[in-house]
Formats: sequence, structure tokens, C-alpha cells
Amino acid sequence: MKALILSGGKGTRLYPLTYTRAKQLIPVANKPVLFRVIEAIREAGVTDIGIVIGTNTGEEIKDAVGNGLRWGANIEYILQESPDGLAHAVKISQDFLGDDRFVMFLGDNVIQGGISGLISDFASSDWNSQIVLTAVENPSAYGVAKLRDDNSIEKLIEKPKDPPSNLALVGIYMFDETIWDAVHAIQPSARGELEITDAIQWLIEAGHRVYPHVHTGWWIDTGKPTDMLEANSLVLDELVPTISPDADIKNSEVDSRVTIERGAKVINSIIRGPAIIGEDTVIENSYVGPFSSIYHHVTIQNCEIERSIILERSMITDIDVRLQDTIIGRYASIRRNWKKPRALKMNLGDYSNLWLD
Ligand code: TTP
Repeated sequence: MKALILSGGKGTRLYPLTYTRAKQLIPVANKPVLFRVIEAIREAGVTDIGIVIGTNTGEEIKDAVGNGLRWGANIEYILQESPDGLAHAVKISQDFLGDDRFVMFLGDNVIQGGISGLISDFASSDWNSQIVLTAVENPSAYGVAKLRDDNSIEKLIEKPKDPPSNLALVGIYMFDETIWDAVHAIQPSARGELEITDAIQWLIEAGHRVYPHVHTGWWIDTGKPTDMLEANSLVLDELVPTISPDADIKNSEVDSRVTIERGAKVINSIIRGPAIIGEDTVIENSYVGPFSSIYHHVTIQNCEIERSIILERSMITDIDVRLQDTIIGRYASIRRNWKKPRALKMNLGDYSNLWLD
């Protein structure tokens, strides 16, 4: 078995964060989503991994991930000149994948429970493909499957206006060499992309065996800011908490479900879990509430923060309203202006969102 991780794309729904950073490198519970994907693949025993990268963010991904040695994996990169669809990403990876069976994992997806069971089921089966489905509330936003009474797949439809079921395709797919005929046969969709749902539909119509596994745990596609916050909460909820012996905690209340990383300082503060405080971050005279991930080298003084993600090297000081459901990018600075006349002053990037009460 080999693995293919899709880490190109545009990431428009996460602007402005993804103007300057690959969305797959945005951390959930202080670890980039892409690293979580690589770990899930390694846990399933797969060591040959190809990562599809785009022209804008490819170098950043290569720098962050490297050759895979730190995961005991061999990682190769496949450049996709333009984001022409998931099936296009598969098509350009044919030289790397050859005739091996492979798992394809979207680099911005997080799934509960890993994929070891799925991979061993597929490896020991005679299925040509295995897809993963899960029940969702808004199927129109996804690829959707219509199953027959015997649980076989009747058809797949990309973002249907009138969904035939609530079973959406999760971003994990398994294929054998029959996929090559499919990705060469299909044509771009109305939105100009080679769709993986069309390729799988082609496999079904050609009489190949496509097995639908229905996943019952959580699964999050971190495409939008609200999904990022939800994924962060779900992963934090399952994190085994640890307090680094190098952390400096003074005159503070720290819950049992809090992780504090190396060199962090917590002074005169309350931290309620599940939460994580990153390396060399300083929290002073502040409250950090449940479902918050504060990344490394952040300074928070005289603030209250809850259910939020704060990225590295940002500084938040003297804010007298609670920050909630908030995502702050890198090197951001938020502080109270004490000078008169009192006014809000902002320096926000394109596509930023600010909610004022
Ligand atoms: P999407 O979230 O469907 O697309 P996107 O990343 O362009 O985001 P947006 O819709 O916000 O503009 O992509 C799912 C994953 O697949 C993501 O990790 C990017 C990757 N991808 C590719 O590698 N190549 C592609 O051609 C596409 C469309 C996506």
C-alpha cells in the first residue's frame, strides 16, 4: 500500500489566513492538520507517501514536512501546476503510485479513530475501491452517495441541490489500479475540475467493486474557520494532557485537562481545559477557557479567551471583553488603546472578519 495526501488547492474559504500560509499547516490543538494526516497514515503501517502540492504553498509544505524521516516514512512531492480537481491530483500521481493499491487522504481533513482499520479491511479485500461515508446535516455541500437496499452504491453526486441521502463522502478513499482508466476517461465538471466523485461513479458503472464504509465517529473537513474551531475542540477533547517539567506555573489555577508545552509561563492566570498552551508562550493575568489552543511564542496579558485558536508569535494584551470563537493568525497584535479620543483602530488584511459588540 502507498498513500497520497492532497495538499494543493486554493484554500479560499480560509482567507485571510491562507493568503500567507498553506491551510494544511494551520494547527489544530497545536499540531498542523497535515502532520495529523501523516501520523494517521503511519499508524496504519503505510510508509511510502506522496504529497500533492500546489505552486503557491508547495515550498512551505516541503520545508515544514521534509523527507518524512521523523515519522519513519519516505515522503515524495508531486507538483500540481493548477488545482484542477481531486481526480486531477490522482492522475498526475500515476508515476509515483504505479499499480500499487493506495489510500488517498485530503490534507485538510481530521477523522476520529484513525484509518488503520479501514486500511487493513481494504488491503485484505478484493474490492477495487473503498470510500468512506458519514451522515451530515448539510449534504448539499459535499459529494453524496445513494445506497441500494443491499448497501451497495447506486450513485455518487457532487454537491447535489436535491441530495438523495445524508451520506457525504469523507476525504479518505482507497483505490487499486482500476482508478487509472477512470481518471483518464472522465471529463472536467461544470466548475472545470476533474471530480473524484465522477471517477468513482465511472468505476461503479464499469462494474468494479466499490465498497462504502460508513464512519460513525466525528470527521471534520477544516475548509472554513468554523470547521477549524470545531476540529480544534474535538481534538482537544481527546488529547491526553501533559504539563512539561520546563513550564513555569506561578500563582495560577490549571485544570487537569490542560497541556502546557516546554518553556511556557502561566502567571496569575486561570486555564480551564481542554486547552493547550504552546512552547515559550506567556499567559499573564488572564483567563484561557475550554477549547482554546494557544500556539508557540504567543503573549497574552490581561485578557479572557475561550474556544479560540491563536497562532504563533501573536500578542494580545489588555482587552476587557472576552475573545470567543476567534482565530488569530501569526504575528498579529491586538491591544487596548488608552489614548483619547477613544476609537477603534484597525489594520486588517483582505477578507478579514471582525465582530464588534
Ligand atoms: P478543497 O477544500 O476542496 O479545495 P481548496 O483547498 O481549493 O479550498 P477552497 O474551496 O476553500 O478554495 O480541497 C480539499 C483538499 O484537497 C485540500 O487539502 C486541497 C487539496 N486539493 C489539491 O491538492 N488539488 C486540487 O486540485 C484541489 C481542488 C484540492
